[in-house]
Amino acid sequence: MGFDLREVLNARRGENFQLYSRNINPQLVRVLRSIGFDRFYERGEGAYLYDRDGERYLDFLAGFGTFALGRAHPVLKKALHDAIDADLPNLVQMDAALLPGVLAEELLRRCHSGMGRVFFTNSGTEAVEAALKFVRSATRRSRVLDCDHAFHGLTYGSLSLNGGSDFRKGFGPLLPGFDQVRFGDAEALERALSSRDVAALVIEPIQGKGVNIATQAYWDSVQELCRRYGTLLVVDEVQTGLGRTGRLWAHEHYGLVPDVITVSKALSGGFVPVGAMICSERVANTVYSSMERAMVHSSTFKNNQLAMVAGLATLQTIDDEGLVDRARLTGLAFEKALAPLVDRYELLHEVRGKGLMIGLVFGRPESLRLRARFLALEAAHTGLFSQTIVVPLFERHRILTQVAGDGMNVVKILPPLICGQEEVDAFVAALDDVLEDAHRGSSLVWGFARTLARASVQRDR
Ligand SMILES: Cc1ncc(COP(=O)(O)O)c(C=O)c1O
Repeated sequence: MGFDLREVLNARRGENFQLYSRNINPQLVRVLRSIGFDRFYERGEGAYLYDRDGERYLDFLAGFGTFALGRAHPVLKKALHDAIDADLPNLVQMDAALLPGVLAEELLRRCHSGMGRVFFTNSGTEAVEAALKFVRSATRRSRVLDCDHAFHGLTYGSLSLNGGSDFRKGFGPLLPGFDQVRFGDAEALERALSSRDVAALVIEPIQGKGVNIATQAYWDSVQELCRRYGTLLVVDEVQTGLGRTGRLWAHEHYGLVPDVITVSKALSGGFVPVGAMICSERVANTVYSSMERAMVHSSTFKNNQLAMVAGLATLQTIDDEGLVDRARLTGLAFEKALAPLVDRYELLHEVRGKGLMIGLVFGRPESLRLRARFLALEAAHTGLFSQTIVVPLFERHRILTQVAGDGMNVVKILPPLICGQEEVDAFVAALDDVLEDAHRGSSLVWGFARTLARASVQRDR
């Protein structure tokens, strides 16, 4: 008797959608069923998921970037088993535990020399929330800027920084003092900063929603303007951090020296939620400014030992397996293999991104025959066409991808960093097949598109 995980899994096998719909979120289940994503996965290993029939799926969502090391990495598994077996003195609270200190040291060793303190969190959004409090405390200013199309999480502070109106709708009022500037527009940024009352600019080095990239000139201005007007630069690396873009930190591509860095997802090794807000000693000292204020920003689970172990094992594995450089090289292999598809298919306009954060940008075709179909879809819902790529990639080729954000024709892939040429070849062949069908006007793609469009029009009514 007693709890037996195997027993629960065997007894409830295949009930996932029914239970989820009844107890958690029926609308999500409707969405998954309508696009045919209603599988029952039983196992994950490396870059692949396996369903109840033993079918294999290439996972290019990677838990939104969490599975940088792939699933079930043996080093992570061993580290976590060891941690449990060691009966570590977890969460003593009135204590300064060892492992948070070691992980903080490892993170700081990987940042520029101006960084000196780490605050651990349970998620990306909590790292952003911490950053918001710290920058207000450090500057004694209240205004915070973010960019259009930004995504920093869905708790109230992060949501107030969010570029997507769909996420904000119905939840107002949000926090006061938050304004938005256009991503990539240095003049707009200067106008907003020149009043010298902005505590921080919070910005993703590559925007997740749309895989948007700004020019080097823009980033030079960002750095210079923030310094000139006394605004702290918060670089949100929750998705881009730890090798995803072919550098350990995506901000290194642009030579930025941020005042605050937020990180999460990949740091977990895909096992234990963890995030971190990294800042200078000076910024942290304004928050923890006296013994009375030693716990003024905190959270019960912040230094959770399993999370610390997952973080440490992940950082070491990234180093040991050379995953940052691997991501860079595999990213180049994707770029090379995808370029001919842009030339061959008029619906595919551009491939953009860095390393293994890649956006496939679709758009209006030239030929009249395709254009009419494309525009009919767009009239039903902007960005619907990209869903007609994601669905056959999954149905026919068992590759899991995502539309990069609402209202945009961008399909995003976030392959695990362990991927190599085999996965590049599989993906490019599958995309080639789906695009060929779409260009031939195959009913497999466009028939499904009509179904989606009808569902979308009904939903919007
Ligand atoms: C750049 C960025 N910041 C913050 C977050 C929020 O992280 P979490 O979902 O762990 O709260 C995300 C999540 O996708 C993100 O991409």
